[in-house]
Amino acid sequence: MKKITVAVVFGGASTEYEVSLESATSVLRNISHETFDVIMLGITKEGRWLRYTGPVDRIAKNEWQQPQYVTQAFLSPDRSVHGIVEIRDGNATVVPVDVVFPVLHGKNGEDGTIQGLLELASIPYVGCNVCASAVCMDKEMTHTILDYNGIRTAKWHAIKQWELTDFDATEAMLREKLHYPMFIKPANAGSSVGVSKVTDKESLRKGLETALQVDSKAIVEECIIGQEVETAVLGNQDPKAALVGEIVPKVEFYDYDAKYKDDSTDLYIPARISDETAGRIKAIALKAYKVLGCMGMTRVDFFIQKDGTIVLNEPNTIPGFTSISMYPKLWIAAGLPYDQLIETLIRLAIGQ
Ligand SMILES: Nc1ncnc2c1ncn2[C@@H]1O[C@H](COP(=O)(O)OP(=O)(O)O)[C@@H](O)[C@H]1O
Ligand SMILES: [Mg+2]
Repeated sequence: MKKITVAVVFGGASTEYEVSLESATSVLRNISHETFDVIMLGITKEGRWLRYTGPVDRIAKNEWQQPQYVTQAFLSPDRSVHGIVEIRDGNATVVPVDVVFPVLHGKNGEDGTIQGLLELASIPYVGCNVCASAVCMDKEMTHTILDYNGIRTAKWHAIKQWELTDFDATEAMLREKLHYPMFIKPANAGSSVGVSKVTDKESLRKGLETALQVDSKAIVEECIIGQEVETAVLGNQDPKAALVGEIVPKVEFYDYDAKYKDDSTDLYIPARISDETAGRIKAIALKAYKVLGCMGMTRVDFFIQKDGTIVLNEPNTIPGFTSISMYPKLWIAAGLPYDQLIETLIRLAIGQ
């Protein structure tokens, strides 16, 4: 049977560039080379597009941008190209691709931008479409749609840069509505970049400044105390949720370092919860997946409060795929090996 040509896109002009390198490395190590012809397409942090032909292990070390391994190359929006245009010594070569797997996190990858380019190009791609990607990336939009559909989230308020001009009034309003401690996050980011927990007026000011450096909009939330759990959803019209896993950060909250750098987080698969609670979590995850218009995959994250209330924290449309990431681990634990998970995702994209 003819192999399927898949372009795995990694890196990206995003604060999560390094995470993408780790995720893509795992995907490239686990993809079946019997079924797929794999093209590696890297985007530098500055936004340059390069086809990479070197060893996979250079990617995670961020040592892939070596002249002998890279050629300028980009996805063309032209449907007659249906693939990548490579530029070598001033000459352009077309490399057709069947499907793209964007292994990108955060801005310029998980937010509908590359998905828009792929729509123009009419090339199928793994994961959510433009609208669901953009909505799930923007925490104000996600909260709004979940609230509208009766899915419990933390109480929240969105703050724009200009609202800081009258900080005293903003602080009073937030204190009244959400109470200290609060969580502050950039509306469009991920991997806990720019996230802080604040306990008073001064730390609120700093937290807002930090978040607003990452994005022009911040989200402030009430602090939820409870178990942090996640489930992995996979599918198009008839999605399924894998097991529920649990994260126990040993630090104040699940920050960037706890996610990717140290061993300061314990993972439990399955989560230490009853089957009944796991069932409720999965049902809410599937409902959220549907109302948000997700396709392909999404990891949905929750808190479970002491009294059993389930609070949806956020959906992640391109979840981490690193060797320690929950999304692949949850599917492996549910009986779907890593290579088959990747193949399923690609087949969902191309409708085979
Ligand atoms: N409202 C909240 N209450 C308690 N902890 C929170 C809240 N929001 C976020 N956190 C903690 O901060 C982490 C990162 O926040 P999250 O909303 O998941 O942002 P990101 O998109 O960067 O992953 C979460 O995994 C959790 O540990
Ligand atoms: Mg998160």
